Amino acid sequence: MDGKKFMDRIVIYGGKKLKGTIRISGAKNALLPIMTASLLTREKVVLNNVPYYKDIESMSLVLKTIGAEVEFRDKQIIIDASNFNNPEAPYELVRKMRASIYVLGPMIARLGQAQVSLPGGCAIGPRPVDLHLKGLEALGATIRIEHGNIVAKAQGLRGNDFSLEGKNGSSVGATCNTLMAAVFAKGKTIIRGAAKEPEVVDLMDFLNKMGAKIEGAGTSTLTIEGIDSLKGITYDVIPDRIEAGTFMVATAITNGDVYLENCCLDHMTAVVEKLREAGVNIEEGNGKVHISCSATETLKPVSIRTLPYPGFPTDMQAQFMALMSIVEGESQITETIYPERFIHIGELLRMGADIQLNGSTAIVKGVKSLSGAPVMASDLRASAALILAGLVAKDLTEILRIYHLDRGYEKIEEKLAQLGAEILRVSPSWEKL
Ligand code: UD1
Repeated sequence: MDGKKFMDRIVIYGGKKLKGTIRISGAKNALLPIMTASLLTREKVVLNNVPYYKDIESMSLVLKTIGAEVEFRDKQIIIDASNFNNPEAPYELVRKMRASIYVLGPMIARLGQAQVSLPGGCAIGPRPVDLHLKGLEALGATIRIEHGNIVAKAQGLRGNDFSLEGKNGSSVGATCNTLMAAVFAKGKTIIRGAAKEPEVVDLMDFLNKMGAKIEGAGTSTLTIEGIDSLKGITYDVIPDRIEAGTFMVATAITNGDVYLENCCLDHMTAVVEKLREAGVNIEEGNGKVHISCSATETLKPVSIRTLPYPGFPTDMQAQFMALMSIVEGESQITETIYPERFIHIGELLRMGADIQLNGSTAIVKGVKSLSGAPVMASDLRASAALILAGLVAKDLTEILRIYHLDRGYEKIEEKLAQLGAEILRVSPSWEKL
């Protein structure tokens, strides 16, 4: 059977300059831990600025499975975890979305036990969870791995002083999971080597607004004073810095002129610096961010190295590579977070890019133009990179397996079309017409 016929695809006719204004959605990577942190209160939580994409739907399903009520309204989610009582997150759920592991901390904190399927590796390489377990064990949980599950038990968590620094630096997921458990640990917890990403800070702001006592947000040392309960609140999630960065690159690659609403440049310093170094104009005023580029031919090659925040984000690496593939000269793109996160190179080569992989560094030699081709998305951000390449490529690009894209971009093709791109989602139902 040809699976291609049964999956949505995106087709792009490249060469249109993007022009206009779009609004950036709420941040996926902030929302996912905040949704599970809502399990820590018996009162209702209302989350605003909520985009609708697959990962949010998957997380709702996880929460519902373990006993919470989740209701979607326009750009809003209401979570009521008063009946949260099921300490099991099975493989069927976790395999669909790794971030399901964020239920581990809240389960241990509220129910004293958890059985969560171990997430496996994925297209961007192996993704261990040892640091998540280290943090929870440091708080007094006993953990064993059994039949592919993390099985945890805790009779009252206790504060402790420990580090979560891993061999690739800090971990966003381990910091969030440990933090959610530490809120209810007796006494004082000090987490060293904590992640500083804006999404981790957003989780802390959310928890503090619910009544938690966490200090040090945005630094590598967090201090948490344990408390007994949290209250329900209404909370606005931060804008998605990766979606904003993707639209900045889309503007640069098409030599466009675009305004972004709901965009926080303070969270994007490394990306903005690199784009400016390449010759892209990025200005802020009247509550909007203005991106323009006098001519794509005048852009300069710029090298990047992905690093934990505030360094250049790994989630912008593939998109930046798409841009550099048409900038005259040579740039080097080094991936230090996920050294194998390079599957998109093979697809960019099919479109005429000149990229060589040397260990975890890609050497990109800019070509005069890319040519449209059928290509295959391999993960969320790689899908975005292929769309960006398609926007500038000659003729037609067809992107298959875009379910990866649907995991974390809200209506990207509609937003791009609104800016003037010739882009269309083709659904299998259309093909029967
Ligand atoms: C989060 C983001 C993801 C982003 C990544 C890095 C979410 C839902 N996902 O993923 O989009 O690409 O941060 O910014 O927020 N590590 C260990 N042991 C662990 C955990 C992680 O060795 O227990 C390693 C990882 O393999 C990686 C590095 O630490 O090399 C950072 O990973 P981490 O920050 O944990 O990524 P995620 O939270 O999974």
